[in-house]
Amino acid sequence: MRGARILGTGRALPSRVVTNAELTRMMDTTEEWIVQRTGIRERRYVDPGTGSSDLGADAARVAIARAGIAPSDIDLIVFATLSPDYFFPGGGVYIQDKLGLPTIGALDVRTQCTGFLYGLSVAEAYVKGGFFDHVLVIGAEVQSTGLDFSTAGRDVTVIFGDGAGAAVVGPAEPGKGILSSHLHAEGKYAAELMLEAPASIEYPRLSHEMLSAGRQYPKMNGRYVFTHAVRRFPEVIREALAANGLSLDALSLVIPHQANLRITQAVAVALRVSEEKVFSNIEKYGITTAASIPIALDECLEQGRIHEGDIVCLAAFGSGFTWAATLLRW
Ligand SMILES: CC(C)(COP(=O)(O)OP(=O)(O)OC[C@H]1O[C@@H](n2cnc3c(N)ncnc32)[C@H](O)[C@@H]1OP(=O)(O)O)[C@@H](O)C(=O)NCCC(=O)NCCS
Repeated sequence: MRGARILGTGRALPSRVVTNAELTRMMDTTEEWIVQRTGIRERRYVDPGTGSSDLGADAARVAIARAGIAPSDIDLIVFATLSPDYFFPGGGVYIQDKLGLPTIGALDVRTQCTGFLYGLSVAEAYVKGGFFDHVLVIGAEVQSTGLDFSTAGRDVTVIFGDGAGAAVVGPAEPGKGILSSHLHAEGKYAAELMLEAPASIEYPRLSHEMLSAGRQYPKMNGRYVFTHAVRRFPEVIREALAANGLSLDALSLVIPHQANLRITQAVAVALRVSEEKVFSNIEKYGITTAASIPIALDECLEQGRIHEGDIVCLAAFGSGFTWAATLLRW
């Protein structure tokens, strides 16, 4: 069976920078609290009228150009987001239209923080299996339009930001590129991090009562998410290495989903690797959910932090709960 590798990456961040100081003017929070508890100093917000499909299409254009292929070479779009422009249709079809692509398939992935890695595993399987030659995987989020900017929402609102990242997956020699993907879920914890409304399980899906109870805003049991994350990240990274007969010493770089600087530091401690081996850019963007890993990967490549032959592990944990890892030989 042939291999599958990432041929090119891209990212798109809204130009509007929102600092912690700006948030302190809207809710009862402080610069110190946000920096100490999360590591976040600023995040990006879109201007009204920009959707995750716009950011996703912008990131995809860069990834396609860097992959050195024509847009018409893309065989499938896999789009991961928790913030599609509309409840339906999924956002992938808007990206297809914005990129002017022919009638190829557009598949939406709804696993939140792990969405990019779940999407990458779909691309990996299609390319390794020979069904497609080029799969475009995108993670994009517009969170800023769905946050509660009063003090009641401060735990969630200060951590999220908008952004997009993309990668083109194409054929490789066996043993190069994506070595393996490891996907997990534990739905019994779904209520710990979720958005309740609008909800098709209720009639009507959105009511004045729901709105006045604030059910249109994400709900998070932060401590619970934190505790599970610091356990699952190292576990799934070790699983990915073991599946490929590799030890922790072989690891050149871990690119974790950017959930919290303290989680990233805890991952380094648990794996007993130096902090430089675990990439972090959360201070600039906050949590961008499905976009965080492709944005981080794109920055790592731009900064020359990944070299040919390096073993790189992408890992994520989040709402669902879901967690995942992808091991790459660059
Ligand atoms: C959200 C998170 C930063 C909160 O940090 P924490 O140390 O767990 O803080 P807690 O939630 O226990 O809250 C501690 C106190 O700070 C307060 N607080 C919460 N948000 C605040 C904010 N933005 N500003 C100031 N105070 C805040 C709480 O009300 C609480 O006050 P109390 O002690 O008087 O009750 C942390 O739990 C976290 O990062 N969890 C994982 C989040 C995550 O990864 N989510 C996305 C999925 S990837």
